[in-house]
Amino acid sequence: MAEREFLKKLDIHCDIQKIRTVMEDVYELFGDDNVILVNCHANSKIPLKDFSGWLPDDINEDDFTTINEEFRGTAFEEFLHQLPFPYRRARLMRLGKKTCLTIHNDTCLRYHLAIKTNPACFLVQMDGRVGTFHHVPADGYLYQMDGTQNHTAINASKEERIHLVISSTKFDHLEERRPEEFYSPKMTRLDP
Ligand SMILES: [Fe+2]
Repeated sequence: MAEREFLKKLDIHCDIQKIRTVMEDVYELFGDDNVILVNCHANSKIPLKDFSGWLPDDINEDDFTTINEEFRGTAFEEFLHQLPFPYRRARLMRLGKKTCLTIHNDTCLRYHLAIKTNPACFLVQMDGRVGTFHHVPADGYLYQMDGTQNHTAINASKEERIHLVISSTKFDHLEERRPEEFYSPKMTRLDP
């Protein structure tokens, strides 16, 4: 069993309606993918998009220090600046209807603010082969997720889900990974 609680509601609150209004204004920026970066690293050529997924070796979460133009002076900047802890990369992450992520772990704690969700959307904590489903409500509160534990996200609904996901500065692994036990050829033979 993991030592740290996987998902924890924090006493950090925002006006979710104001956040939602800005999200609707920038929504088209998702384009063909599912991420919009709220902040970017200093040398970014595509500030809204690079690097929206796993980071290359020469970039880390500490490099994301500049709020992108589209979010300056908005409820997003206001919310990020009022956080009582240092933060790094912040992204709007869309999860399409009837989709999930691969099981993986991240380098650090991740903070989730649900902007558009429904009861069939989950963050799933994996303990060995057993998954525990957690729902993040769009209640305006920030939730801390221990991304260093194996996990996935599932949208089992017929509508998309959008979270603001903020990386912390706490690093527990040097690199993200997909745990071998879920991806080795053996896995298909283990479970009858
Ligand atoms: Fe993750």
